[in-house]
Amino acid sequence: MSTKQAYHGSDVEIIEKIYGIPKDEIINFSGNVNPLGVSEKVKQELAAHLDLISTYPDRNYTTLRKKIGSYVHTDPQNIIVGNGTTELISILMQNLKPKESLIIGPTYSEYEREIKLQNGQVHYYTLAENLDFQMNLSDLLQKITPTIDLLVLCNPNNPTGSAFLQKELIEILQQCKKTNTFVLIDETYMEFVEKIDQFTAIPLVSHYTNLMVLRGVSKFFAAPGLRLGYGICGNSSVLEKIQQQKNPWTLNTLGSFAGEIMFEDDKYIQKTKMLIQKERTRIYNELTTWPEIYPYPTYSNFILVKIKKENMTSAYIFEQLIQQKMMIRDASSFQFLNQKFFRFCFMLPKQNDQLLRTLKEILNKN
Ligand SMILES: Cc1ncc(COP(=O)(O)O)c(C=O)c1O
Repeated sequence: MSTKQAYHGSDVEIIEKIYGIPKDEIINFSGNVNPLGVSEKVKQELAAHLDLISTYPDRNYTTLRKKIGSYVHTDPQNIIVGNGTTELISILMQNLKPKESLIIGPTYSEYEREIKLQNGQVHYYTLAENLDFQMNLSDLLQKITPTIDLLVLCNPNNPTGSAFLQKELIEILQQCKKTNTFVLIDETYMEFVEKIDQFTAIPLVSHYTNLMVLRGVSKFFAAPGLRLGYGICGNSSVLEKIQQQKNPWTLNTLGSFAGEIMFEDDKYIQKTKMLIQKERTRIYNELTTWPEIYPYPTYSNFILVKIKKENMTSAYIFEQLIQQKMMIRDASSFQFLNQKFFRFCFMLPKQNDQLLRTLKEILNKN
């Protein structure tokens, strides 16, 4: 089963055209981007250093990789920088050319697209709805066989919000070592997780040479326009091959400079964590009291919801909310989900209140 077409969180211009709502007036609960926006410090520094665009970035991004290394507690030698995690997913697939891949889904669609571009075959391991999309580890381990060249998982997972514990990842990596399977873990949403040390795979890169972890600044640092992503891998020959294949300077000078500031902006980092943790708990607890829906437990800055009302679909809820200038994600386009699922991210408390109030009205109608 493959992924169907739907509005992505970045499709606000399409929405503007179809619904005639000015894009600046839409509250985007679909993009999974930190509602605080880019930090003031980064904005000020960028404005003061616009002349940087007159220079090429350092081809090796040495200073940026050092700062990322301190931020994620790894040797800068393990780090590769790219034009968003999107470029790194693409270049890794071009490099590995996996014949058979196993993707843990439902999940983000780019992994499948990139594997298929390399003529690879995609199999899915389906997270069970009745386990709240949490993994059944022993079952998954059985599905990792020597014919599988690549295993892909997203942690925490988009769109389910479920997460894999580091101790579970160790068992997966052990199995993958035996079957000679490379493992790609997308940690785009990891910094939103409360007990991050229990979940991140970054410390494992020094023990497993068959592992690449991806992160970026699009969501947590509210900077999808910068296109700054990075990969962490302990296998120098994989990194070298990727580096050779990659075009030079794909991250521009301003993106690189902004990154050097962001990862040291502790005040912003803490403020974001506090805001999301508070909103996540508050919203999840509230939604569990609504009989018309089922909210799945989430570790991330978004939540997946199932509509229990028989005659109501996610497309209907999307339509009703967009009329009120609020854009959520109709999740029916994800593999294994259907027209009963939608996802939204946590914005500022007032905006979240507005969404909950309107959502309740919609669910209570009919
Ligand atoms: C799981 C996941 N990975 C990667 C991306 C893309 O990230 P980037 O902007 O760093 O290319 C997204 C964007 O929605 C995502 O949800």
